Amino acid sequence: MSNYHIKHLEEYFQVYRKSVRNPESYWEEIAEEHFMWHKRWDNVLSYDFEKPEFKWFEGAQLNITENCIDRHLRTRGDQTAILFEPNNPDEEALHITYNELHDRVCKMANVLKVEGIQKGDRVCIYLPMIPELAVAVLACARIGAIHSVVFAGFSSTALATRINDSNCKMVITSDGSFRGSKTIDLKGIVDEGLKKCDSVETVLVVNRIDSGVEMKEGRDKWLQPLLDKAEATCEPEIMDAEDPLFILYTSGSTGTPKGMVHTTAGYMVYTAFTFKNVFQYRDGDVYWCTADIGWITGHSYIVYGPLANGATTVMFEGVPSYPDYGRFWEIVDKHKVTQFYTAPTAIRALAKENLEHVEKYDLSSLKVLGTVGEPINEEAWHWYDENIGKKKCPIVDTWWQTETGGIMISPIPYSTPAIPTFATLPLPGIQPALMDEEGKEIKGNQVDGRLCIKFPWPSMARTIWGNHQRYKDTYFSAFKNMYFTGDGALRDSVGYYRITGRVDDVVIVSGHNLGTAPIEDAINEHPAVAESAIVGYPHEVKGNALYGYVILKETGETRNQDNLRKEINQLISDRIGPIAKLDKIQFTSGLPKTRSGKIMRRILRKIASNDTSNLGDTSTLLNPEVVQEVMDNVIK
Ligand code: WTA
Repeated sequence: MSNYHIKHLEEYFQVYRKSVRNPESYWEEIAEEHFMWHKRWDNVLSYDFEKPEFKWFEGAQLNITENCIDRHLRTRGDQTAILFEPNNPDEEALHITYNELHDRVCKMANVLKVEGIQKGDRVCIYLPMIPELAVAVLACARIGAIHSVVFAGFSSTALATRINDSNCKMVITSDGSFRGSKTIDLKGIVDEGLKKCDSVETVLVVNRIDSGVEMKEGRDKWLQPLLDKAEATCEPEIMDAEDPLFILYTSGSTGTPKGMVHTTAGYMVYTAFTFKNVFQYRDGDVYWCTADIGWITGHSYIVYGPLANGATTVMFEGVPSYPDYGRFWEIVDKHKVTQFYTAPTAIRALAKENLEHVEKYDLSSLKVLGTVGEPINEEAWHWYDENIGKKKCPIVDTWWQTETGGIMISPIPYSTPAIPTFATLPLPGIQPALMDEEGKEIKGNQVDGRLCIKFPWPSMARTIWGNHQRYKDTYFSAFKNMYFTGDGALRDSVGYYRITGRVDDVVIVSGHNLGTAPIEDAINEHPAVAESAIVGYPHEVKGNALYGYVILKETGETRNQDNLRKEINQLISDRIGPIAKLDKIQFTSGLPKTRSGKIMRRILRKIASNDTSNLGDTSTLLNPEVVQEVMDNVIK
């Protein structure tokens, strides 16, 4: 029996039982056999849910890039580590071998050092999906700098908020990016954002689109000339197991984004282990995850997890619709992709297009298909299974979060029989619990409740940057001695889990987490707006879309409503990014509120979802009459 690589159902159950009975020895064995350490740990795990504090492999010393790069050089130096597929299909793909990746990462690491970056400094990376993004991430890890990757679709304000929150000393960006037929002026966004930031001393700029951007004297530097001068070796910084590896921001239901802090050893062990098992990766495979490295999926399952296993990982710069809707399948065919991991929203969008886009290509290389980021509906699951997997590829519906660092609940191909819409069973070491609203665990099967995890796992986020209290309040206060996920779930008659969606004010739109409060804050900045409430409603392609209820100040009511809608969406785009735009905006004279003045989002959600059969008792509201008005004017 192998703890590290599970190959059938019986083995899964055996391994799972062992992992729960004795988590320390289970993870210790994996850490010992599969990774390279400079010093062994003194203690596998210490934890305290009250503080809350979690330490894995304390006392151990390592560098994650040695595990992701150096140790593979002897056996697979000439194997492709990163396979870069550019936006433009006519531009040649780039096969970066492990040897080349080593040199690139070391050069970049040396540049960071020359530019004054030291262990513990925060470096903001705002780059498109080009090799420099992965290289920059690894270069930070090489020298012990903490990377904070900001998805390059975020606006200048959102970028500035994130830079300021963690006081980044440097930004690594590019002149611009290619996205389908468009180019985007990333450097311009950075310049705009940096007007609001004091901590940034240096901006390194990759030349991706040759647009000849303005460079600010003393602050901005083209990266390539610096790389040309840099040495191709860089001794890795020896890190403690619990040293921070990165910060990654995720939306909360209230306030500013949360800078989730992930640390080194536990994150490495868990992402490597889950990558190997969930995708059943084997030597010679070509693995492709279509996420952006700006999200946790890209961190864990484009960069760290695959590279820790010596895998070949594809990085795609473009979008699924360019030059046409066959692009994903063209890439699978061209590079003989074996594992393909994407989001349900992409599947739904592609399933709407003509099947010819799929049928043109040979997809027979595929072995395993995956989905992540939101619940997958049955129809999309079957489309994926039939048209992409040809009913021969197991589908892994992987449930996890930025906070969990790695996949938590997922089928293991060839082991766990899959059922559409079910994330199925917890991976080894993961102990889910369903809780009722009173804080009691709901035991047994055929039940539903709030999804919690009742034992620590190696890749859990350790804190929120600069705000440990918020970490405690958000994740460890609702239920005692447990991590609360914010999701609801049900457990069926055989113990399979199905994630039913968020139970807080986070809405998942096209697989992106959006907190409703920050969007409301943006809208309320509009001079004509008095108050607003945002809710999610089901959308065919995006999973959820955003519906805004807006109360105007009296002076605003005479204005053209369509113009106001445009202005409101522009404001959201500027403050957060285009992904947070509202699909529907209803102007209303009031919002249903409780007697204590809380907006009843449950009612608004139902109205927006066109599900008004069971609104519950509205007579106890402060203003019951408003419900009818809202219903009468709903935008269908
Ligand atoms: C949702 C993405 C259903 C869930 C890795 C979670 C899912 C949030 C699934 C985290 C899934 C993720 N089925 N829902 N397979 N995977 N989610 O932080 O609501 O971007 O809490 O991490 O996405 O999103 P995040």
